[in-house]
Amino acid sequence: MLEKPQVPWDGSFVDWVRSQVAGEGYWFQRMDLGPGLTTPGWSDPQAEKLPYFGLPERMQGMRVLDVGCAEGFFSFEAERRGAKEVIAIDVLPDSIRRFGICRSALAARATAYLCNVYDLGPKAFGTFDLVFFFGVLYHLRNPLLALERVFSVCAGTLLLQTATHEVAGAEQVPLARFHPSGIESGPPGSGLFDPTVFWLPNAECARAMTSHVGFEAIETVTSEAGLVLRAQSPRPAQGRPPDESKAPWS
Ligand SMILES: C[S@@+](CC[C@H](N)C(=O)[O-])C[C@H]1O[C@@H](n2cnc3c(N)ncnc32)[C@H](O)[C@@H]1O
Repeated sequence: MLEKPQVPWDGSFVDWVRSQVAGEGYWFQRMDLGPGLTTPGWSDPQAEKLPYFGLPERMQGMRVLDVGCAEGFFSFEAERRGAKEVIAIDVLPDSIRRFGICRSALAARATAYLCNVYDLGPKAFGTFDLVFFFGVLYHLRNPLLALERVFSVCAGTLLLQTATHEVAGAEQVPLARFHPSGIESGPPGSGLFDPTVFWLPNAECARAMTSHVGFEAIETVTSEAGLVLRAQSPRPAQGRPPDESKAPWS
């Protein structure tokens, strides 16, 4: 996690963080927030994702975007690895609130905004050296549209992770399975149902979609934790903040 918080990590602050964490009815990401304080998420990204997702060891000077950040594990990890600026977005207000609790506990600078991936664009967000798009593609009714929006803000590298559905014998054919009513999900054995899983591409389809929207040099990082792809913008440039003088909101 991040370096020692600059806020006083004293009894009253720890009590405040603990009460905020306990006050949430749901946590997705298990996260170490400091001595004796771990969020009770059912997904453990430190163990189950980080070793596989291809994050660069050093992110000095980078502008990083974390799409579908949930409680912010990857945003805070990017900051810890030296990113100059980390912007996170999520479509769920509850995610942004829980991100805020973790941000305070870690004294992080990464900032989360309530935003749908479909609303991403360079006018409001600028461009990024590195974009995380982890665990979101299959939650979308319109994955190609989302990838187009991600492409519009990526001036460097995309790291994309998705669950997949392979059909034996058709690995070379770009296919996706549509789940109109969602799939079983949640902690193993929980019997929980996630109605927000729509499209499960096979690996070839995920690569083809990524290429179709304009990314180049698409590589498979791993197939061990879902599929992780690394892809490059065809016009590499330094990530830049939005130009507010052009009043992008007008
Ligand atoms: C499976 S979680 C993945 C969280 C995190 N990226 C990770 O890999 O641990 C999916 C996240 O994407 C968010 N999400 C789903 N649809 C979205 C959309 N249309 N725009 C932005 N975020 C979205 C969800 O709210 C949720 O926090």
